[in-house]
Amino acid sequence: MEIINRIPRMRSVTQKIRRDGRKIGFVPTMGALHEGHLSLIRRARAMSDIVVVSIFVNPIQFGRGEDFDAYPRDLARDAELVSTRGVDYLFAPNIDEVYPEDFSTYVIVEDLGDKLCGLSRPGHFRGVSTIVLKLFNVVRPQFSFFGQKDAQQAAILKRMVRDLCVDTEVVICPIVREPDGLAMSSRNAYLNTEERKAALVLSLALQQAKKLYQDGEQDAGKIISAMRQTIENEPFARIDYVSIVDNESLESLDIIDEKKAVLIALAVFINRVRLIDNITLNTSTQDEDDEPSSFF
Ligand code: PAJ
Repeated sequence: MEIINRIPRMRSVTQKIRRDGRKIGFVPTMGALHEGHLSLIRRARAMSDIVVVSIFVNPIQFGRGEDFDAYPRDLARDAELVSTRGVDYLFAPNIDEVYPEDFSTYVIVEDLGDKLCGLSRPGHFRGVSTIVLKLFNVVRPQFSFFGQKDAQQAAILKRMVRDLCVDTEVVICPIVREPDGLAMSSRNAYLNTEERKAALVLSLALQQAKKLYQDGEQDAGKIISAMRQTIENEPFARIDYVSIVDNESLESLDIIDEKKAVLIALAVFINRVRLIDNITLNTSTQDEDDEPSSFF
């Protein structure tokens, strides 16, 4: 595995790979890698000839007062972890090269970016779509891999790729969970023992929603109220949002129609740590069944 820091080097390596007719699979990340990231790498390995993973903590997707400075960074550990997973290139670009001082061009996916997490994180998705398009332009992957864990991000990036005719196939991979149901996240590292227990309330509320739906409840409002009550019973938890939306447009739904793909998504603060999780109904995107941590 080669670690590449410079954009021109990454560009020339991927140019040659394409010229040789080999397919590039790309997994963009911010590092602090865990099983969720590794599941994307496995999928990339299975579908592509060459796997490129990027690690870049992208400053423009963090708001004021968010955890950009505190975000866990350990490139040596991450590099060691992925070097045994069939990754060919680890791309960790330098911040000054990615964002020169007079950087002034952004990608905004309208509407989709303003809902759900966009309400409490203004500008976040503009930062995500901008960096991902930049990375796509450098790596120019045949396939790019993202997690359903960040369902809104996945919907936005699929829309961006379609709208701007980006030549990559976006593959969305299922959520990987801890054995007790907590969705894996680099931010779980911020939780102390008590908070880690309290954080289970996210997956419990989603399980509850799924059960209510399976038992015949189709009224989104009723399901949301039940979920909110469960979360409010957890003293460390504070709800940012609990929403039931169309899986593609992210528009709120009043009734869950069994013919439509539906996303039930939530964001909850456990003390100061903001966690997100979701499930989909009526889609083929399930939790990864072959993972030991499969929960739902
Ligand atoms: P990061 O949070 O590092 O996540 C990188 C990728 O891993 C994303 O596609 C995310 O959805 C996926 N992922 C994280 N936890 C997962 C889990 N438990 N199961 C499955 N997939 C999981 O998302 C970002 O970085 C950034 O916004 C990025 C796209 C790299 C742009 O900066």
